[in-house]
Amino acid sequence: MYYEPGKTDHGLSKNPFNSLVIPRPIGWVSSVDVGGIVNLAPYSFFNAVSYRPPTVMFSASRGASSPDDNHKDSQRNIEETGEFVCNLTTWDTRKAMNATSASVAKDVDELALAGLTSEASQAVKPPRVAEAPVHLECKYLKTVELPGDTPNDAYCVIFGQVVGVNIRDEFITDDGIVDVGKMRPIARLGYQDYAVVNSDTIFTLHRPG
Ligand SMILES: Cc1cc2nc3c(=O)[nH]c(=O)nc-3n(C[C@H](O)[C@H](O)[C@H](O)COP(=O)(O)O)c2cc1C
Repeated sequence: MYYEPGKTDHGLSKNPFNSLVIPRPIGWVSSVDVGGIVNLAPYSFFNAVSYRPPTVMFSASRGASSPDDNHKDSQRNIEETGEFVCNLTTWDTRKAMNATSASVAKDVDELALAGLTSEASQAVKPPRVAEAPVHLECKYLKTVELPGDTPNDAYCVIFGQVVGVNIRDEFITDDGIVDVGKMRPIARLGYQDYAVVNSDTIFTLHRPG
């Protein structure tokens, strides 16, 4: 099959697009508002985009869930306070991660609401999720607004520079390698589906030359 988004109908029961760029890592973004209220939400339009300095991005939709200024709380907090943390989501935290995607009032601490443990970050004000094995502490760089087919389809991409990296010692091997199989990170597929990485699904390929 072939379709041209926005021009021709895909004819499928659901838009297939987010089942085609897969698996997507999930940035579990903690931030604080100007009053210090903690916000936590998962974003799967998320990735690392450069090495030195390490830089990450996530992309936030607009629309009905944020009727006041049409922005998600994570975006607003980060633009106002300049800092955030990307916590790694794992098999063990999958249900809490999902719970933090609910729309709740701005003055609710979503980390506490999901029954998670808040841990102070080292380089930034937003706390990290203690249950996560990795935390990327970030300083806000910039927002890039993407065009949408309608105003509600418009996404904003938020870039952050990673200024502090925490890796739980129990996930580092004696050889100094990050033990990803032991962490069991999860990734987003399309529809309501996810994938999990564990030691059975990891394989190694050496680059030519
Ligand atoms: C696994 C997962 C991935 C998500 N990815 C995104 C995303 O990339 N962009 C987005 O705008 N919303 C995404 N959402 C929805 C947000 O998490 C949800 O709108 C949340 O309430 C936003 O919270 P905030 O307003 O506190 O930032 C995702 C939800 C889940 C469960």
